[in-house]
Amino acid sequence: MRTFFAIELPPALHTQIGLIQRQLRSHLRDLQAVDCFNWTAPDKIHLTLRFLGETSAAQSAQLVAGLAPIAAQQAPFQLGLQTVGWFPNFRAPNVVWLGVSGARVELEKLQRQVEDLVRRSGFAPEQRPFSPHLTIARTQRQAERTQQRLAGEALRLFAQRPAEERTIHSPLHFEVTEFVYMQSELRPEGARYTVLHHFTFGMQDR
Ligand code: 2AM
Repeated sequence: MRTFFAIELPPALHTQIGLIQRQLRSHLRDLQAVDCFNWTAPDKIHLTLRFLGETSAAQSAQLVAGLAPIAAQQAPFQLGLQTVGWFPNFRAPNVVWLGVSGARVELEKLQRQVEDLVRRSGFAPEQRPFSPHLTIARTQRQAERTQQRLAGEALRLFAQRPAEERTIHSPLHFEVTEFVYMQSELRPEGARYTVLHHFTFGMQDR
């Protein structure tokens, strides 16, 4: 099965993220660039810690057993959602995301622990540096290059707007008290995610 580790968001944030998507969509619509994107349903948005891909039952069991003590040693931390960004660049944006602020040091420490265990379990190291983000839209596969360029231009203009128009304000902060092991099934209507295991943090008080 296809699996990954992620931090899920509280439902209150799904509503807020939906509003941000609406704001961005209306900006892109004004510039005739909205059709280029598939918008992620807010309740399917998560913060990926490590994507594994195809994983055997034995590997899954080993990972769950190895990560339980790491979660037990982890105290909750606060994250926030900051700004809108995109990968890889304006000319050909593939992914539009929300950036993560707050306890980034704690988040990166947790991600390194997950990465270490994943490597010790025989997976190839992740080549890309960890870049915490929440994907809110992806460019459609069949998007024409001209349309994609238009979308890139629209995003560039969005980035030039006053900070207060494109920066997300509080209360988009949330407390991370667990991470999950997730299965992803690719279906014609989009990926279907199922939580296989909750890693609840053990150190509830510092
Ligand atoms: P993304 O949001 O940046 O696309 C499940 O597919 C999750 O794993 C997605 O949130 C996706 O991140 C992430 N992921 C990271 N690397 C991936 C890969 N090579 N293939 C598919 N998903 C990947």
